[in-house]
Amino acid sequence: MKFSSVLSAAGTLAVASAASSNSCSFSKTTITAATAVSQLNSCPTLDGDIQISGDQIGAIDFSSVKEIAGDVKLFNSSSVTEINLNQLKKISGSLSIDAYTQLHAIDFTSLTEAQKLSLVSLPSLALLNLNSGISKAGTIEVSDTALSSLRGLTNFNTVGVLNVNNNKNISSIDLAGLDTVSENLILSFNSDHCEIKLDDLAWASNLTIQDVSELSASNLTSVNGSLQLAYNNFNSVDLSSLKQVGGSVLIFANDELTDVDLGSLKEIGGELRLMNNTDLEDLGNTFKKLEEVKGAVNIRGAIANFTLPSLDKVDGDFSFSSTSDEFDCSDLKKQRSKGDIEGHNFNCSAPTKSKSSSSSGSKSSTKGGSSSTDSSSSGSSSSDSKKSNGASTLYTSMMVVSCGVAAALAIII
Ligand SMILES: *[C@@H]1O[C@H](CO)[C@@H](O)[C@H](O)[C@H]1NC(C)=O
Ligand SMILES: *[C@@H]1O[C@H](CO)[C@@H](O)[C@H](O)[C@H]1NC(C)=O
Ligand SMILES: *[C@@H]1O[C@H](CO)[C@@H](O)[C@H](O)[C@H]1NC(C)=O
Ligand SMILES: *[C@@H]1O[C@H](CO)[C@@H](O)[C@H](O)[C@H]1NC(C)=O
Ligand SMILES: *[C@@H]1O[C@H](CO)[C@@H](O)[C@H](O)[C@H]1NC(C)=O
Ligand SMILES: *[C@@H]1O[C@H](CO)[C@@H](O)[C@H](O)[C@H]1NC(C)=O
Ligand SMILES: *[C@@H]1O[C@H](CO)[C@@H](O)[C@H](O)[C@H]1NC(C)=O
Ligand SMILES: *[C@@H]1O[C@H](CO)[C@@H](O)[C@H](O)[C@H]1NC(C)=O
Repeated sequence: MKFSSVLSAAGTLAVASAASSNSCSFSKTTITAATAVSQLNSCPTLDGDIQISGDQIGAIDFSSVKEIAGDVKLFNSSSVTEINLNQLKKISGSLSIDAYTQLHAIDFTSLTEAQKLSLVSLPSLALLNLNSGISKAGTIEVSDTALSSLRGLTNFNTVGVLNVNNNKNISSIDLAGLDTVSENLILSFNSDHCEIKLDDLAWASNLTIQDVSELSASNLTSVNGSLQLAYNNFNSVDLSSLKQVGGSVLIFANDELTDVDLGSLKEIGGELRLMNNTDLEDLGNTFKKLEEVKGAVNIRGAIANFTLPSLDKVDGDFSFSSTSDEFDCSDLKKQRSKGDIEGHNFNCSAPTKSKSSSSSGSKSSTKGGSSSTDSSSSGSSSSDSKKSNGASTLYTSMMVVSCGVAAALAIII
């Protein structure tokens, strides 16, 4: 086969290499016409930089494409309803499908390997056909789709990035078999009742779990980067195998959380921050092995009980503020004076326990009594905002070359 093609209207040259008869390589090419799309289907391997966009395309039939070696971006169309990639075995480059608002089905029957796959802003996408599924993957992102399951997308033991967010019909994510995540695992804002199982996970670099109703990760021993648990509605979380977190531990806005087990955690490389967990009162046993926090400690809430019996060293500022009159700052103050808490600022505050109230009804206590302060507390900037893991960078960084109607691509065989 011999190819040569010119994108006339925009003056962009789409070089097609004859190369091996198997591969078509394109320099940056934007395709908007249906005929040009169907011509691409004569390429078993798509290489180079290809964008397909616009409302003149109906279904995309790429049933002859076996490999995507280049960067293929399908974006911004409200007319494409189906994509057939049923012979595609391998994405060694990247495939991203973004803002195809009417797309409801993708046939990935043969797909087993994906270096980079993103399915983003596809509010009609409910059907994904995979047969044996993806067993080798670099980065997988599934965001804002109508999928109700990840079946076939996650048949791997290890992955670089898995980011599944804002898929409101996904109410269960079972990643049995997933052992390690070398960069980021983000499972956020799917169905409010989403249950997550990470039973084989031993370590992840960054782990972010948000808006989840159940989490199991009892084999997790290490989070090399940061651990974030936020906006969840589970009552308890068992991370009792977790020994170390290389970055920060951030636990906030979990409204129903009463019980956190971090009973093996020895070391936190960044900061420890807990706030806005309205029902979390007992942290008496949560941090029983914690020896060292390299960053700051910033904890607030209606906390009756908080002890750090194994603590050796907090390098950063320390700020603890409880609204519960059950809490007594004296142990923390002792640890401060012993030198276990080294940061510049130390602040522990809790209301004084009311002496007048007897056994029952101790809520009527006076406020702000024994607030104890050694120096001004440092402001910790919290830039966490709900939905921040959504796929918001829709069109940025994308160069659209708008083509004339029938223009585009001439493939000469
Ligand atoms: C998306 O496509 C529509 C219709 O083809 C077009 O008007 C709009 O400019 C495109 N938007 C972007 C960001 O490319
Ligand atoms: C997604 O969920 C909505 C309501 O939560 C439901 O009406 C719709 O049928 C679901 N879609 C699929 C594909 O399951
Ligand atoms: C973990 O997340 C932080 C903050 O988003 C990022 O800077 C860091 O590169 C991530 N680590 C890895 C291994 O991806
Ligand atoms: C996970 O934990 C269970 C029991 O806690 C154990 O039987 C199993 O071997 C562990 N799996 C891995 C991969 O460590
Ligand atoms: C993360 O920590 C585990 C356990 O300490 C270690 O085996 C693994 O190599 C670390 N991963 C990275 C990417 O540093
Ligand atoms: C905690 O709650 C306060 C008051 O509702 C809010 O202003 C703040 O942004 C919340 N912070 C976090 C980290 O959720
Ligand atoms: C504090 O925690 C300990 C150990 O978990 C528990 O026995 C005790 O009842 C708790 N006290 C309060 C006031 O919650
Ligand atoms: C210590 O914390 C309390 C409660 O948050 C606050 O009112 C007080 O201003 C803090 N003290 C200093 C010196 O920052």
